[in-house]
Amino acid sequence: MLNDKIQLELIKQLNRESESSQLYLSMAYCVEKKGFEGICEFLYDHSNEERKHMLKLIRYLNKRGGDITLNNIFLKKITYGCLKELFQILFEHEKKISNKINFLVELSLEKKDYFTYNFLQWYVKEQIEEESLIKRILDKIQLIGEDKGGLYLFDKDMKNFHKNKKL
Ligand code: FEO
Repeated sequence: MLNDKIQLELIKQLNRESESSQLYLSMAYCVEKKGFEGICEFLYDHSNEERKHMLKLIRYLNKRGGDITLNNIFLKKITYGCLKELFQILFEHEKKISNKINFLVELSLEKKDYFTYNFLQWYVKEQIEEESLIKRILDKIQLIGEDKGGLYLFDKDMKNFHKNKKL
């Protein structure tokens, strides 16, 4: 049986993963309308990844006899000035998620819940990859700056990234 505090914090985390999925989805919708075919594929894909993170938590909680409530699903209103700002928002968001995962790991150790501690190791590894991926994209966008040709090629690269999962 799960400790009440751990259950509550895992439910908060699965809601954050759901929010992450909505954030990526909203951004994908937004940039697709602006004609960025590659970047929107990446963002749509990543929205699905975040949904998988949410499902993993739901299934773990069910396995441990948890009781879950989910936030409503809706598209967020996205306002951003440029792609650099958009990926900066995503980078800050991923750093926030990493902090929450670290908090959960600490809590599981404090409560001596080694099953949850072990379960969370997947998220620790995943967050290292997510932060580094979004940072690499942000660095590239910063290098490109206002260069429209560079942005066009970058969007094409992102289309390939979507197919090869390599950047
Ligand atoms: Fe599931 Fe990007 O954090």
